Amino acid sequence: MQGERVKKLDVFANDQFIAALKAGGECCAIASEENEDIIPIDSEISKNARYVVAMDPLDGSSNIDVNVSIGTIFSIYRRVSLNGPGTHEDFMQRGTEQVAAGYIIYGSSAMLVYTTGKGVNGFTLDPSIGEFCLSHPNMQMPKDGKTYSINEGNYLHFPEGVKKYIKYCQEEDKATNRPYSSRYIGSGVADIHRNLITGGIYIYPTTTKSPKGKLRLLYECNPLAFIIEQAGGVATDGYKRIMEQDITELHQRTPLFLGSTEMMKTSMGFMEKFKEASV
Ligand code: F6P
Repeated sequence: MQGERVKKLDVFANDQFIAALKAGGECCAIASEENEDIIPIDSEISKNARYVVAMDPLDGSSNIDVNVSIGTIFSIYRRVSLNGPGTHEDFMQRGTEQVAAGYIIYGSSAMLVYTTGKGVNGFTLDPSIGEFCLSHPNMQMPKDGKTYSINEGNYLHFPEGVKKYIKYCQEEDKATNRPYSSRYIGSGVADIHRNLITGGIYIYPTTTKSPKGKLRLLYECNPLAFIIEQAGGVATDGYKRIMEQDITELHQRTPLFLGSTEMMKTSMGFMEKFKEASV
């Protein structure tokens, strides 16, 4: 419209979630992938708030304009600061300290999948009543899978262990059901949601261009790791558990390997075996 700027959907989503969290009264600070610094909440209604929320309001944003599934990721921690608005320190906690984490996927239906550390439950939006209804109780990730998800366009820049694992996925072997299928939407929530349901592995490794990886520990990796572990899967940086990583920066990046136990075991075996070749 003339004279009016249309807000980008990721900015709009960010504003909506921030407004909702401020209005809820339970949250004393927000860290968003969209904001450089934390957003402390200083209001009467939040003065006894005990939680902080980290979020990626719209993950997979390169898919927005092409109508491909995208998602929202959130992670909730108990505050460590004593009172008043939340502080930076409240977010510098390991993933193991999360009290809840979840994602919403906006796909052929909208679903909320979350955990409070007692398993994972999935709820599908019923638009006729405006409620998310329990449709996927006690979600369990299959122990093994046939799908690997990675941006193979970056192949030349991957660590040796990842290159070798990709080749392993592509080899013919009846006993292990190979070759596996390659499926990569490029929308983390959508790729991981599919793999959670059907079994599979998602990898965003280091590359020579992004030596620390691309994905963010606080907004993406820790919450997704919490969900996948609670569903019986495994989440690491290729060597060590994601949720035990120390965090020193809000927008800290990490490589991410996340998926079915058996596939994770094999991929991490390749990482260990070819560790020297990647240094
Ligand atoms: O920034 C996060 C993200 O959009 C993820 O949702 C997705 O898995 C990944 O980046 C895609 O990155 P690339 O386009 O480099 O494969």
